[in-house]
Amino acid sequence: MADLSVRIGEVVLKNPVIAASGTFGFGTEYADIFDPGILGGICSKGITREPREGNPPPRLWETPCGLLNSIGLENPGIEAFVREVLPRMLELGTVVIVNIWGHEPEEYACMAERLDETEAHVIELNLSCPNVPGAGLPGANPDKVAAIVAAARAACGKPLWAKLPPEGDLIGAARAAARAGACAVTVANTFRGMAIDIRSRRPVFANTIGGLSGPAIKPLALRAVYEVSKAVGIAVIGCGGIVRWEDALEFIMAGAHAVQIGTGNFIDPLCIPKVIAGLEGFLEREGIGSPEEVRGSAQ
Ligand SMILES: Cc1cc2nc3c(=O)[nH]c(=O)nc-3n(C[C@H](O)[C@H](O)[C@H](O)COP(=O)(O)O)c2cc1C
Repeated sequence: MADLSVRIGEVVLKNPVIAASGTFGFGTEYADIFDPGILGGICSKGITREPREGNPPPRLWETPCGLLNSIGLENPGIEAFVREVLPRMLELGTVVIVNIWGHEPEEYACMAERLDETEAHVIELNLSCPNVPGAGLPGANPDKVAAIVAAARAACGKPLWAKLPPEGDLIGAARAAARAGACAVTVANTFRGMAIDIRSRRPVFANTIGGLSGPAIKPLALRAVYEVSKAVGIAVIGCGGIVRWEDALEFIMAGAHAVQIGTGNFIDPLCIPKVIAGLEGFLEREGIGSPEEVRGSAQ
């Protein structure tokens, strides 16, 4: 039997497949479809200090092989999350990764401090949301990455993953995250994109720019993972366009320790269980003991 477990810093995942932030609710929503406890981990929706209503509709726009979103971080805020949502996530039987977003390093630090009092396993610093009006992408700038990761590091003892945008100085940002105390980088969030309604002659989204995800971005995200994992000594979590187990293996062979699946959950709610089963079947057929044995084989 292949052992699918992987270690990311001090945390062990039972397999390398994680539900990506914003695409799997808080995990409990899927409990009628399959047992979320089989997952390597679940990332929460992005949580902010105060509750947010998110952007006005439309928030989703399909493109050939991809999905544009402009959700704008709708969430209940850190206090309600910690009190009402996190306890239910912790009962799911998998690693709980809390994705947080803020305007300034102090906001990240404040939420990290609050989460330090909880049983959450990992904090994922979302440095890459393209959907908050006027906020920019701190993850595209190594100095801003360093400031945010360092502030969160000083405020808590939990493992920190830095989720980067695929744009900007990606390698510089990943190195800055590692130096400031992150034990992993998630590569990557959505690519900034847009669509125009030719009848109204206006952008479809109120915020003009949205985030592109799904199979359309897979080769781009794979290249990013390949480059970052060669450049940094910390774990890389691959993310972008994974819908089949073969995609997940490509990311692992490019150097990823684990992968996250987002839009794939919208295409097929059983996407993640199928990817886990497919990975296990491949390793067994090929006589490979663990994902670690093939990680980075394509470098
Ligand atoms: C509807 C939607 C909501 C998302 N919300 C978040 C979020 O709150 N925080 C975050 O870090 N990423 C968020 N993402 C980005 C995904 O977690 C993921 O990084 C991205 O979609 C690329 O992976 P995929 O191609 O597998 O979807 C969201 C993506 C989508 C499609």
